[in-house]
Formats: sequence, structure tokens, C-alpha cells
Amino acid sequence: MYFKMDKEFTDYFGKNLRQVFLYLVDDCNLRCTQCLYKLEIGFQMHKKEMDYEDAVKLISDFREMGAIKLTLMGGEPTLYGIKEHNKPLLDLIKKSKELGYEYVRIDTNGQFDSDLLDQPEFKMLDEITFSIDGPTPEINDPIRGQGSFEKFLKNMRKAKELGYNINITTCISKELIKRDENGNLYLDRMIKFAEDEGIEKINFHNLFKTGVPRDYFSGNLDISIEEWSKVWKEIKTKIQNNEYSIPVRIPQSFTTKEEFDKNPRYYGYCSCKNGSRILAHPNGMIRVCSLMIGTPYAIARYYDNKIVWDKSPTNELQAHKMHEDTPCTNQYKKNKFGKYIPLCVSFKPQQNEIIWKQLGWETNNQDGKIRILVAYNDKTIQDDIINSINSLNYANVVGIAAEGLDTYNKIIDLKPELVFTKYNMDDTSGLDILKKTKEKLKEDMPVFNFIVNEMPEDQLQDMMNVAGDKINCLITNPDKKRITGIIKDYKEYIEFQNK
Ligand SMILES: C[S@@+](CC[C@H](N)C(=O)[O-])C[C@H]1O[C@@H](n2cnc3c(N)ncnc32)[C@H](O)[C@@H]1O
Ligand code: SF4
Ligand code: SF4
Repeated sequence: MYFKMDKEFTDYFGKNLRQVFLYLVDDCNLRCTQCLYKLEIGFQMHKKEMDYEDAVKLISDFREMGAIKLTLMGGEPTLYGIKEHNKPLLDLIKKSKELGYEYVRIDTNGQFDSDLLDQPEFKMLDEITFSIDGPTPEINDPIRGQGSFEKFLKNMRKAKELGYNINITTCISKELIKRDENGNLYLDRMIKFAEDEGIEKINFHNLFKTGVPRDYFSGNLDISIEEWSKVWKEIKTKIQNNEYSIPVRIPQSFTTKEEFDKNPRYYGYCSCKNGSRILAHPNGMIRVCSLMIGTPYAIARYYDNKIVWDKSPTNELQAHKMHEDTPCTNQYKKNKFGKYIPLCVSFKPQQNEIIWKQLGWETNNQDGKIRILVAYNDKTIQDDIINSINSLNYANVVGIAAEGLDTYNKIIDLKPELVFTKYNMDDTSGLDILKKTKEKLKEDMPVFNFIVNEMPEDQLQDMMNVAGDKINCLITNPDKKRITGIIKDYKEYIEFQNK
């Protein structure tokens, strides 16, 4: 280790550290209305860039502590070492890959000189995330700055041509919950824009004012909880119905008290409590919660090759009940949400994100219900099966698929207990799905129920040879009675086994 670390610091992270957010520059070439980093980029008497040596030492030590994902950000990270044609930035990317970071990404406003994309070290990035705040210049530019959309588009398209893995991040402002002349939410159009441009994934941040310091310096683009509640349900339903061709990471932001109480473990997700992330800034601050940016609160400071735990009341963890599943501590302090409970800003159900998936948050923290995947390529039949399952208070649909490959991917990602799937999908057969699933999950493969009219004897035998008792039923008529009957029998069987 390069830094001599206080024991409180190493004890806090234990073996849990997974991701690092390195704020390389306290400066920016834009001034976005909502910017949470406004105080840092606005004015600084001293250093605006992280010292390169410090950056290398920090990522080396954090890697040794278990981190596998690194995000380079700021401020605007493409300004890092700009006077030296970004040499420090490029060296740092290379170094992080040499250190064994599995996933290195940069979070940028996309206003950089396009030549940066041609640099071999930049090409080592696993992801470029471009931040834009609307699908058109008319929506984006009043928030992010005149001409910023056009510059972003040019660089994003060049990056796409060069084969980069590109994501988009967008803040959910009041502009995005408005509807166009055809009744489409602009938020939906934002997703459509990403799909049309061949973007791999889109991620959203919320802009609620929840009684945290940034309320006072992050503009007036926020929306009300009631407005969000409607939009969230609309988008969530579309995600569940597979209406988007790319993964959409969208924060739930709130739930009701009733729902929270049903499963506090799941809804109580908090990076401060699980010690999975770290934020390091040029001024020496080390934080955990991004809501504390722009405040004197942090967990530690680095200087002179030391990482010193903050033992004073400005330690951001002091407010937390570290071993209890509570609503988001930092947002709940003022408790001004009526029947709603604030959730972690990073709580994005079923998100396709490497650390969320590694933590198994979706799979390990359910409320004891039987977790079911439904795969069928006819929407009416799919809906009937889902409605049958939803009529039971002890079963949950955790995912939906309409193609064989998607079925397999969702089995691996979501780890359902039970699968109801059409046997012959257009792109693959049930036997192929079984073989691939068995190869990947071995004994942890789910229990399959195949919907099929006829099944030749030898094919059935092949299936049994692959999956044995993981094949539960062949269903010719997937009506409510049959589906709920199968789940009920499964429940009784599991309860009997657990006695
Ligand atoms: C602070 S920026 C730094 C990186 C880079 N300058 C950029 O804009 O992508 C990181 C991300 O935070 C988002 N962001 C800015 N202000 C925010 C706020 N008040 N709440 C939530 N996210 C915010 C930005 O849109 C961006 O996606
Ligand atoms: S580009 Fe990023 S850092 Fe710069 S003002 Fe906008 S959100 Fe803030
Ligand atoms: S936003 Fe809330 S729940 Fe998330 S890390 Fe911060 S304090 Fe924890």
C-alpha cells in the first residue's frame, strides 16, 4: 500500500470495496444548471487537479482493497492534464488497466477535442459515458450550454464509429416529464434517441430536492414526487414489457412506507452501509455518498501519503444507523415526504450494472416470494401468464422475455427460481436454453416449465438428460388454473423440503 491508512478506514471497507469514483478535476468547460459539482468548479483558491502521483497511488491502493470498477470524472475529466495534451489522463487509463481494473469508464460532457478518441490509451476505456440532458438541442442546450448538444453529437458519433462502448447519462429535469404533440414523454424520446444512435445503455439521475445541501445550488429543474410516481410507473412497465431495445437504468427514488416495510432489506440499499464505493477528490476529501458533494462532510482525507479517518462531527457516516435497514439517511432527515420514503439515488431496480449485479441486490434481497421469469413471444399469452402469477401473493414476476437468447440472458442475470417459457422460440429451442443454462449455473439452474403443444419422446429424453428434475412440467394450455396450480405445488414441495 502506498498510503498509510487509519485502521477505521480499512475496517470500514473490509473486503467490500468494489468501485472508485475519481474526481480528477475541480473545473469544467460547461456550467450546467443542475450541476452538483458547482461549488467545486465555481471557485477554488488552490489546486484544481488531482496530483497525478496521488491519483496513481489511490487507484493502486483501492485496487488492492478489492475495487474492480473505476469511473474517471470531475468536473470535466477530459480537462485533466489538458495543457499536456491529456497525457496524465491517458497514462492513468493505461495504468488502471495494468492494475487489473475490470471496468474503466469516463464520464464526460463530450465537449473535448475529437482527437482524444484516437489515442490508443483512450481506446482502452471499457465505456465512455456522455452526459446530455435532452434528445434535442432545444431541450439540452438551455441546461448544458449553447452548442453543447452539437459538439456532443459529433464526438459521440465519432466514438461510435471507432467502436467505443457508449452510454448516455441524463438528468430527469422537468423538461423530460413533459409530453410532445403526440403525447410521448420526452423522457421516452430520450431513450428512443439513444436507441436510434446505437448507444449501448442509458442511465438516469434524479434531481429531487430532498433536504440535502445540494438543493441550494442545483438549479430549479426538479419535479414533484407525485409527477415522478406516475412517470416511474409508466417507464417501469415499459422496461418490464421489454419495450426498449437497450438497458435503461432509472432511479426509483421513492417508495411508499407500506412497500418499504414489506422489504426493508431490499429498499434499504445504501452505499454508505455496504462500503462498496469510494469517491476521491482533488482537495483530499474522500467520501462515500454523492449527496455530500459540495459540503464539508467526508469519511477521510488523504495527504502526505496518509489516509486519515475523520473523527470529527463532519464524518458523513455519523448520521447513519450502520447496521439497520432504513430509508436513505441523508434524504430522510427532514422527513417531509408524507407517505413516501426516499431511496438511495443509486437504487435502480433490475439495472444492468456490473456492481449492482455482483452484489446480487435484486436476487439476494427479495421478500421471500417465489421469483419467476416469463418468456413468451405472444404478448397476449405473456400477459395472461403474468396476470395469473400476479394473482398469487407469494410469487413475483422478476423478468420477461420474448426471445430465446433474451430468456437465457435474463436467467443468468436475474436468477429466477421458476421459469415459464415457450419451448420453441424463433431464435432457439428450449433444449438449447437448458444446455446453456446448465453449463453456466450447474445445480443452481432454475426449475423449468415449458409451454409446448407436442414433444417427441426422444427430445424429452434429451431434456431430462441435461436437466433432470429441473424440468417440472410441460404445459399445453397455460391458463390461470394451470399456471397457479403449478406454482402452488412448487411452493408446497419447497415447504415440505424445508421442514
Ligand atoms: C458532475 S458530472 C461530472 C462529469 C462530466 N462533467 C459530465 O457532465 O458528465 C457527473 C454526472 O452528474 C450529473 N449531475 C449533474 N448535476 C446533478 C444533480 N444535481 N443531480 C444528479 N446528477 C447530476 C451530470 O449530468 C453527469 O451525468
Ligand atoms: S459538464 Fe458535468 S461537471 Fe460540468 S457543469 Fe455540467 S454536470 Fe457539472
Ligand atoms: S443516497 Fe442515501 S442511501 Fe444512497 S449512499 Fe447516500 S445516504 Fe446512502
